[in-house]
Amino acid sequence: MNDPNGLVWFDGEYHLFFQFNPHGDVWGHMSWGHAVSTDLIHWQELPLAIPEDPDYMIFSGSIVVDKDNTAGFAGPGQTALVAIYTGAAQAPRSLQNQQLAFSLDRGRTWVKYAGNPVLDIGAASFRDPKVFWHAPSARWIMVVVLSELRRARFYASSDLRHWRHLSDFGPTHDGDGIWECPDLIPLTLPAQDGAAARTVWMFKVDVFENHVAGSSGARVYFGDFDGNAFHAPAHAWQWVDWGMDFYASASWSNLPGADGDPALAAEAIWLGWLDNHVYAKELPTAPWRGQMSLPRMLSLCRTEGPVGMALVQQPVPGLRALRQPLLTQAACVIASGERLIDWPGPGEHRALDIEVELIPPPQGSCGLLLRVGRPEAGLSERTVVGYDAVRGALFLDRSASGFLPAFAPYAGRRHAPWPLPADGVVRLRLLLDSSSIELLSLDGSCWLSERIVPGAGSLGLGLWSEQGEAVLQRLQVYRLDA
Ligand code: FRU
Repeated sequence: MNDPNGLVWFDGEYHLFFQFNPHGDVWGHMSWGHAVSTDLIHWQELPLAIPEDPDYMIFSGSIVVDKDNTAGFAGPGQTALVAIYTGAAQAPRSLQNQQLAFSLDRGRTWVKYAGNPVLDIGAASFRDPKVFWHAPSARWIMVVVLSELRRARFYASSDLRHWRHLSDFGPTHDGDGIWECPDLIPLTLPAQDGAAARTVWMFKVDVFENHVAGSSGARVYFGDFDGNAFHAPAHAWQWVDWGMDFYASASWSNLPGADGDPALAAEAIWLGWLDNHVYAKELPTAPWRGQMSLPRMLSLCRTEGPVGMALVQQPVPGLRALRQPLLTQAACVIASGERLIDWPGPGEHRALDIEVELIPPPQGSCGLLLRVGRPEAGLSERTVVGYDAVRGALFLDRSASGFLPAFAPYAGRRHAPWPLPADGVVRLRLLLDSSSIELLSLDGSCWLSERIVPGAGSLGLGLWSEQGEAVLQRLQVYRLDA
């Protein structure tokens, strides 16, 4: 699997469709796979939803709930889910256009619209439509990218079948690789110090090259969407995740709000593909290949500095209910160097949720060693995470984390700038799975997510400090039991 697609809540279920190859475990024959959940944590995979056909593969896109039957697909008493996706012409043709399919049975079966494509400009790289209802202008808006031109285009429609071009946004940065998977999300910037709360439109796009981690990743821009065009000051942007493996994120449409679980009440929730096109096909996981990040609830916070705001992403709170305590480490000094913790290990369950509070040495670094190799193998396998007080950054180093693909920068250290809080304490959370780590500041303002593929026996855990003593204030390790 790769990108999440068609994320929508409908009739009590969160749907997750995804780019899926029904015939193999490397990219190809792209179709939409399907899974559903009621809590965004436990997922049930359903049969293939939208298969490729002899003319087109089914690339990424979104789903809307057509409550007013604007497209006319629903009969009396029915509500149609309408998928808007990119048809990518089968080789040797080189054409991408936007197409529709609809479902009248809660997403279980899909009918491709006979009038496809609904938007075709004859372009070879024109994809990943995200459609939403824009209430002030009472019409559908589509944002879609001309990938090679690194340009997002906005279109409007009253019936999902006919689309009118409104405006373009981008390119914005020299050196960006192609643009993919746009999203446009309104979020509330909270009131503060006399400044009233207001709506900020956040535009997200993934760049194939030029991401700060040295490969691909997502950027968000903070601006305004007036129903026709998106505008953002040139400096008003940030990286979504500082790791090499968070891509193609998409947000849920039709979130239930007050009709749903209050714990999941957020203005927006998204997840991303926790992987990277450069080496996805090499990572030796089985029987799956490709995985999603955990769903993240989105909000904005105010910050100092010229942008004045930042994206906050919090893991869905239901994870806490799955926690089984494995280890609580009493407060201690971490002397310069490293030491392993004597602990039972996670057993067969490799999903861990770790919270740690550290006071780093003022001129040094400190943190945790994760998935450390067996003593007889010299403990050489390890993933290092921590805080570098000199750079003012969280970091993750997977140079010795286990399997390394051919792409040399995979083995490296990624930094995420994050100023030391006023009380000097670095509070981190780590969400580990068999082959991934999502590292975040506990306040959700800074994320660094990457894949790791350690050996099966690499289950050790350690503390380390460099250039001085650190203080470990708190370390709690939980197993996450589904
Ligand atoms: C992003 C992407 C999309 C495209 C899909 C094809 O990962 O390249 O632009 O629609 O994957 O699988």
